[in-house]
Amino acid sequence: MREAELSAVARLFTDAVHALAAGHYDVAQRHAWAPRAPDLAQWRERLRGRTVLVAVAESRDLRGFIAYQDDGHIDMLFVAPAAARSGVATRLCACAEAALADAGVSVLRTEASLVARPFFAQRGFAVVAEEHAVRGGVTLRRFAMRKALA
Ligand SMILES: CC(C)(COP(=O)(O)OP(=O)(O)OC[C@H]1O[C@@H](n2cnc3c(N)ncnc32)[C@H](O)[C@@H]1OP(=O)(O)O)[C@@H](O)C(=O)NCCC(=O)NCCS
Repeated sequence: MREAELSAVARLFTDAVHALAAGHYDVAQRHAWAPRAPDLAQWRERLRGRTVLVAVAESRDLRGFIAYQDDGHIDMLFVAPAAARSGVATRLCACAEAALADAGVSVLRTEASLVARPFFAQRGFAVVAEEHAVRGGVTLRRFAMRKALA
């Protein structure tokens, strides 16, 4: 990700939450998770110390991004609603997994939303705990998941 892509990344995150997570989280939960007007200073801070990979179409439009830490924690994975179920998250996750495996990481961790749980499950992640994250006083159900790298 380049600095110039920060605002597109923040916009894609908001769009993904409000469109793709609508079947699993109500309006209040989605607003708590992704406020409509993203604060770019907060985003810069949020991505500090993470590696962020972006998927970009030939048209240069952003299709998705993944943010992860050197210790194997996958922090964020979001895909543009128009590009959902076309393999974008699969490719982003595969790139992150390969880079982390090359760096000697043996276990991947994530906190998967209700939407992302089946995605991570089909990539070999197992649920280790159900969690209730609180954002702005609103509770969101999610799952701590782990995957051991060969
Ligand atoms: C979860 C998310 C990242 C998946 O991205 P995607 O690019 O659509 O995923 P892919 O196309 O690579 O999916 C690969 C496989 O994962 C599974 N999968 C993906 N999304 C799924 C869903 N919504 N429901 C059930 N299975 C799903 C399917 O097995 C899929 O294969 P198929 O399309 O051949 O059936 C995307 O839906 C998203 O951004 N969701 C909203 C935000 C979110 O919850 N992010 C994760 C925060 S932890």
